[in-house]
Amino acid sequence: MSDGFSLSDALTTNNNLNPSAPPPQGWPSWGNQPPAPGGFPAYAGPPGAYPGAPGAYPAAPGAYPAAPGAYPGAPGAYPGAPGPYPGGPAGPGPYPGAPGAFPGAPSGSGPYPAPGQPSSGPGFGPPPAQGGQAPPLKVPFEMPLQAGLVPRMLITITGTVNPNPNRFSLDFKRGNDVAFHFNPRFKEDNRKVIVCNSMFQNTWGKEDRTAPRFPFEAGKPFKLQILCEVDHFKVAVNDAHLMQYNFREKKLNEITKLCIAGDITLTSVMPTMI
Ligand code: GAL
Repeated sequence: MSDGFSLSDALTTNNNLNPSAPPPQGWPSWGNQPPAPGGFPAYAGPPGAYPGAPGAYPAAPGAYPAAPGAYPGAPGAYPGAPGPYPGGPAGPGPYPGAPGAFPGAPSGSGPYPAPGQPSSGPGFGPPPAQGGQAPPLKVPFEMPLQAGLVPRMLITITGTVNPNPNRFSLDFKRGNDVAFHFNPRFKEDNRKVIVCNSMFQNTWGKEDRTAPRFPFEAGKPFKLQILCEVDHFKVAVNDAHLMQYNFREKKLNEITKLCIAGDITLTSVMPTMI
């Protein structure tokens, strides 16, 4: 599958001249691109909001190329300077929350309370004070994607793998069908493998086990990003492209739910447009 350069690639520039430097908060190499000479693409500004989004759901730091228009409601959520990630949540306020709401937030303009999550309290209040720790989100976690998926929608998930994990999964759902199941398994026959699949009418399709590496580790924090492109998802972990998954479900606008479950502690889930 070749998708060539995405639009977002065109928005990035490269000014990191130190190839041995740790990955910045910038745009991961999403694969199928010629390696950037000398390093990583540069941060190109804050991301745009998910259409109509008045704000962020517990914000993670990060850095993606800007869509036209600044991200409303989350000032400072996407500083151009490298944030605390990668390198883990050591240091003050690993993923400081930003005020604002994801569209589809049931009410009000406060931080997004997903169904099953408390509407106030841990994870949904104002950002923790400097030095505070963002409280984890409840797992299993469900987030409505009100308008469904759309190309250039990026979902950034941060969390930490539990000790002694078995598995965790993301499911992008269209009703009961699973358009995209992303499922790292830590101990399948004593091996680690990422299984991707789709489920239609309660029947799983052919498993895709072609992810070239297994970037998750027990007890370690991670940043997992799913970028919806025109005919596939791209997956990056810790700012490095991992794999892509061609759409089997093509009605993107009907993929209106993201479910996250399994052996992780979830810190933040944030949809943006790039
Ligand atoms: C099944 C498993 C499901 C899902 C599926 C993917 O064996 O029970 O949770 O991971 O594989 O193909």
